[in-house]
Order: sequence, then C-alpha cells, then structure tokens
Amino acid sequence: MNTVRWGIVGTGAIAHGVVGDFQFVPGAELAAVASRTESKAKDFADQYGIPGAFGSYRAMLESDDVDVVYIATPHPQHRDIALAAIDNGKAVLVEKAFTATLKGTQQVVDAARAKGVFAMEAMWTRFLPVVAAAREVVAWGRIGDVVGVQGDLYAYREYQADHRLFAPELGGGAILDLGVYVVNFAQAFLGDVKEIDSRARLYPTGVDKAVTMNLVHAAGGLSSLTCGFDGHGPGRMIVVGTKGWIEVEPRFHHPSMITVHRNGVLPRIIEALPTGRGYSHEFAEVTARIAAGETESPTMPLRDTLEVMKVLDKCLHQAGITQREADVDLGP
Ligand SMILES: NC(=O)c1ccc[n+]([C@@H]2O[C@H](COP(=O)([O-])OP(=O)(O)OC[C@H]3O[C@@H](n4cnc5c(N)ncnc54)[C@H](OP(=O)(O)O)[C@@H]3O)[C@@H](O)[C@H]2O)c1
Repeated sequence: MNTVRWGIVGTGAIAHGVVGDFQFVPGAELAAVASRTESKAKDFADQYGIPGAFGSYRAMLESDDVDVVYIATPHPQHRDIALAAIDNGKAVLVEKAFTATLKGTQQVVDAARAKGVFAMEAMWTRFLPVVAAAREVVAWGRIGDVVGVQGDLYAYREYQADHRLFAPELGGGAILDLGVYVVNFAQAFLGDVKEIDSRARLYPTGVDKAVTMNLVHAAGGLSSLTCGFDGHGPGRMIVVGTKGWIEVEPRFHHPSMITVHRNGVLPRIIEALPTGRGYSHEFAEVTARIAAGETESPTMPLRDTLEVMKVLDKCLHQAGITQREADVDLGP
C-alpha cells in the first residue's frame, strides 16, 4: 500500500481540531469526510480541501475511497460505527473513550481481531515525543523502579445539561471523558490494575462531575488520580520511582516538557515539542502500521484499551452510573 487513505466520521469539535495535523503525516492522504448531514460534510470538505464528502456514514464506510476511518463522534456512537467499518474491511482509529461500555470495547476488539484489520484507540498522549522520552528515562532505570503515579486532570466546563459532556445518552461525565487520560497514563507506567476504589460526585443528569480513584496495580504500584469538570486544576502528573520521580509538566495529556528528579542530582529538564497540534503522532503511527500490514500498535495495543476500559467501567459502577452504547443509524 503506497498511500493510506483516511476518512473522518463526524464533523464536530475534535474533527476540526485534528484535521490540520494530517499535513504532517508521511504517507497519509485525507480522502473523505462523512456526516449525518450532507451540507456539513460538504462544508467540512470545502474548508479543508478534502476530495470526498459523504452525507451518510454508511456510504463512506462502504466506499472504496478510504482505508482507515477516524471515528470522532460521541463515545456511545463509537461501537456501531467501528463495527460497521471493520465489517467493511476498514481499519479504525477510535476516539477516546473507545466505547461507552466495557462490553462495547470487547465487541470492537473481537471484531477487529476476527477480521484481521488494524484498530487502535486515539490516545494521542502516548505518542507525544516527550511522553516517549519519559518512557525512555524509566527504561534506562534513571528513577529506579516505578512504584506510583499521581495526577489530576481538571478541565472546568460550565454545566449545560444537553451538551455531550453532561448528557447521559451522549456518554457524558468525567470518568469516560477525562478519567480515560489519567487511567491510561497510569496503566502505561504501572501496568494492569487489580483493585479499584473510586468516589464520584454527580450532576443532576446522573453523570459524574468529578471522580477520584485509588488504584492498586497487579505488579504492586499504587496510583492516585483525580479528574473533573467542576473545578480548575493544573493537569499535572508525577511518575514515582524508587530513585527519583518524573514530573510531566501541565497539561500532562499534551505535554512538551518533563522534569526528571533524582536523589542528590540537579533536576534535568527534557523538552520535546509535538508536531502540529500533537495529533500528527498518533496518525503517523496508524498510517505506518497499516502500510506495514500490521493490525495493532505496540505503543497503544488493544489489550491496554481493554484494561483501561475495565477500570473506567468499575468506577462507573462504583458511582452508580450506567452507560449505554447507542443504536446508531448509519444512514442510507
Ligand atoms: N483527543 C482529544 O483531544 C479529544 C478532544 C475532544 C474530544 N475527543 C473525543 O472525540 C469524540 C467527539 O468529541 P467532540 O467534542 O468532537 O464532540 P462533538 O463536538 O459533539 O462532535 C461529535 C460529532 O459526532 C457526530 N455525531 C454522531 N452522532 C451524534 C449524536 N447522536 N449526537 C451528537 N453528535 C453526533 C456529529 O457529526 P455529524 O453531525 O457531522 O455527523 C458531531 O458533530 C468524543 O469521544 C471525545 O471524547 C477527543
């Protein structure tokens, strides 16, 4: 495969946010966009110079014009769109949270594996250059054994009952939207989680405003994580080791700087700017893996997506929240 042809599903905030980063991705061609509304697809395509505009998700998923689809709809819509894409032999990059439920995640993972197509969660943070540098610092043993992760992701948002962040039918709540970042980060450095103790406070719509999670990892690490929409916070993250610690400078989910602190040594700052708005790195990963005929990313494998989703699912359960997958009308 010479060029990997991308299609975008949905024309909302994040689709507009990432689209400019495709220009930085070697071997990627932004071939099409699909919307539930034809005029929105055409406007999006005109605005960004994309050749294909589909007024139905199904039409793009069934077309021969794209190899991989980037699914940028609210979380409960991810499952059905991903399953339809996979069924049509398309690779998928699915926005985070991967789905609204653990069951939905398992269904998509099973389908991708059965069909032998590439699938990945769009956890862009894992691909940022300075996060890769943090992994190297750990691999070199600079902070000793990693025993903990501590961090927050507060992202204040004014409550608006019908917005996707607060509406139950659109997968609202901090656990799925922000918790996915903090848990994903902890899982990347400490591995799988065996015990979960979380507490949340809720909006009148029944989804969570904020959650704090204490996790015990299978290998013995402990993480302490908080996130929420109803307060302001730095968005910082610390990786704790037996010989020092790494501070991921705010905001940790798209950082450009880390500070490595070691006992008795002056702190060392490592800076690595992302290319574009930072989404180019995940797109480059997907493009390269597909071009190589691979079905998963070793940096963001499906098993890790499943492990993270298990934690989020448990936190939802502990908060008394039930999330549901949507029955998506894919259009004509
Ligand atoms: N990686 C990041 O930094 C980042 C940042 C923000 C969001 N996200 C993720 O991206 C996804 C989308 O978030 P967003 O903020 O872009 O949402 P958004 O602004 O509400 O846009 C979502 C789009 O999905 C489509 N859609 C399909 N079914 C829908 C439904 N029933 N209700 C509303 N829209 C529907 C719509 O596009 P059409 O009308 O064109 O079909 C809509 O414009 C979420 O999973 C979110 O967690 C990621």
